[in-house]
Amino acid sequence: MKRIHELMGAMTLAEKLGQLTMTAAGYTVTGPVIAGDSTESIRDGTIGNLLNLVGPGPVHEMQRLAVEESRLGIPLLIGLDIIHGHRSLFPIPLGEAAVFDPQVWALTAREAAREAAADGLAMSFAPMLDVSRDPRWGRTAEGPGEDPWLGTLIARAKVQGFQGEDLSAADALAAVAKHFCAYGPVEGGREYAAVDISERTLREVHLPGFAAAVAAGVVAVMPSFTDLAGTPMTAHVDLLRHYLRGQLGFDGVIVSDYNAIAELLRHGVAADLPEAAALALAAGVDIDMMSDAYRRGLPVALERGLVTIAQIDESVLRVLTLKQRLGLFDDPYRRGATAERPEALAQRRQLARSVAARAVVLLKNDGDTLPLRPAQRRVGLVGPLADAPGEMRGPWWAAGVAEGHVGVLQGLREVLDGTEIVFAPGVEIEGDDRSGIAAAVELCGRIDVLVLCLGEGATMSGEAASRADPGLPGQQRALVEATVAAARSRGVPVIAIVFSGRPLLVSWLAERVDALLAAWFLGCEAGRALADILGGRVSPSGRTPISWPRVVGQIPVYYAQRPTGRPADAKDKFTSKYLDVANDPLYPFGHGLGYGRFTLANLRVSPERVGEHETIEIAVDVANEGAHAAEETVFLFTHDKVASVTRPLLELKGFGKITLSPGQAGTVRIRLPASELRFLGPDLTPVFEPGEVEILVGPRADRSQLLLGRVVLST
Ligand code: BGC
Repeated sequence: MKRIHELMGAMTLAEKLGQLTMTAAGYTVTGPVIAGDSTESIRDGTIGNLLNLVGPGPVHEMQRLAVEESRLGIPLLIGLDIIHGHRSLFPIPLGEAAVFDPQVWALTAREAAREAAADGLAMSFAPMLDVSRDPRWGRTAEGPGEDPWLGTLIARAKVQGFQGEDLSAADALAAVAKHFCAYGPVEGGREYAAVDISERTLREVHLPGFAAAVAAGVVAVMPSFTDLAGTPMTAHVDLLRHYLRGQLGFDGVIVSDYNAIAELLRHGVAADLPEAAALALAAGVDIDMMSDAYRRGLPVALERGLVTIAQIDESVLRVLTLKQRLGLFDDPYRRGATAERPEALAQRRQLARSVAARAVVLLKNDGDTLPLRPAQRRVGLVGPLADAPGEMRGPWWAAGVAEGHVGVLQGLREVLDGTEIVFAPGVEIEGDDRSGIAAAVELCGRIDVLVLCLGEGATMSGEAASRADPGLPGQQRALVEATVAAARSRGVPVIAIVFSGRPLLVSWLAERVDALLAAWFLGCEAGRALADILGGRVSPSGRTPISWPRVVGQIPVYYAQRPTGRPADAKDKFTSKYLDVANDPLYPFGHGLGYGRFTLANLRVSPERVGEHETIEIAVDVANEGAHAAEETVFLFTHDKVASVTRPLLELKGFGKITLSPGQAGTVRIRLPASELRFLGPDLTPVFEPGEVEILVGPRADRSQLLLGRVVLST
């Protein structure tokens, strides 16, 4: 601390504002290009932080300028979006959420941190914790899905994984919990649009992930671009200062989103850059990413009396403290000093393959179409995503280059011994060209099974990729209609693999195929992982972390709906339903089949009555009556039947897993601290109310398939 205070005493205003500024180094994945002004500004101490610079060489060169050529020698903080791996890509976050395994979530973040730190980086702009119940929103791909409780587990695991045990270690990254907060419910699912939600939804759904990240020790937070009920998050004093810093006790750095401070002008809350800068600083935003509002605006804001030097110092102190915690003052060249061992890279690929296989969700498998049978020697692989290694990266591929990726064609050819793979793309992902369909139809005349690889392109989800009607783009439906008809005419079974950064609207497809797999974007080992699944080496175990709507008009459709006074009743017109479509989604949250066939029985809940500080023990017997060894995930939902405020019809509170061989049985046990049954009362403060709570246990968020037990809460 002494060093920091001495430094602060010696800093000019310009140097202080430099520490509050982050500039893009103009990095492209193929090589770094330092933007004209950055080099000089680093030397004169007026840029203290960079984003988008990769590689020990360029990073160390920039550090050298800062440390050895600037007046005070303060090291740079350098960050990048390490969303689902750095060079070795894992499944996109939404896909990884489907794994339902905190150890996996932590491990992939740890490995990503190792790889990114070896590339000289010290900060990852991740994890993204925005709950999304609207698949139109492209950034659904980057987040935990629809459930806030699941989001808290992911938050904790990711922060621990990125930051490791010791933030100053050569392989640790500062995690950035983003985007604070409630970015997911942008109106109409339209990117960057305004958000208007109730205080209850904000607190119950959108804040818990951030609270969990703070509790796990996250050292940085990024406000979202959006306006929340009239206040842009970048200027949200109440949520940033009072809630995040005050209530949660967050003492790390708040880094703005890209150009977000300047965008306060467009939001219409600031008349000029000095005003915008003053608003953000007042809200506690420490680092200005890409607006240059602090360097250009704060000196004027100071003159106008809009900010004080004490406010500026407060932020500078936080930034320097983070640099110190990262060990940057002790050794700015620590990250990237040693190249990773080739074995580490090979092991990471293995991990990527197993996580990718675990992320795949088998949505439908009529007549046990999957796994493929040995007699099915000729596999017809059709579709624009069958031989598309680069697309497997999904959105936000950091430094993952397309060449390092294994597409489905390559994966099947390598892994499925004794199987001939015949391939025709049929159509492109987008566009109007149908000329390739004939070849795909012709191929259907000489195969034993048809595997369709369909979906969105990698950049059709992620930031700035909202879709009003997120179905299969281009001519893919025409391809499906034609090839399925050809396959059916010969009795050939049809499997469809859908790649996407969100649930797609695929009811029509689900009706036409025998088996349907959600493959999200699985990363560098996508093709081999899918071959593991298709060939039966791995039984699918992924569970969708978000509901799959039947039609766009159902959105938002999510499992944790609150009750209505008029629950849907087909016989009663005046009840809550649509005239033209069912209320429930095509596939509910938690849905996912495997190659086993599980039955659940004998739910036990004990004790029958609990106080707030006791723990409820839940047990259920699971048997695998199928022909394959497989893993089953058992979800625990609760429903507080009568409370002072209406409670969701189901709330996820836990899950357990069990792997069973054919004919084997076992017991899944889940512990539920009764304190988890607290909720926000009428005044939005937590209450533990006596009364009966339903305990519902089963394979997916569908009440008709859940075993029902009870517990009584007593004070
Ligand atoms: C995104 C952030 C990201 C930042 C830096 C922004 O456009 O919203 O999530 O961290 O760019 O790349």
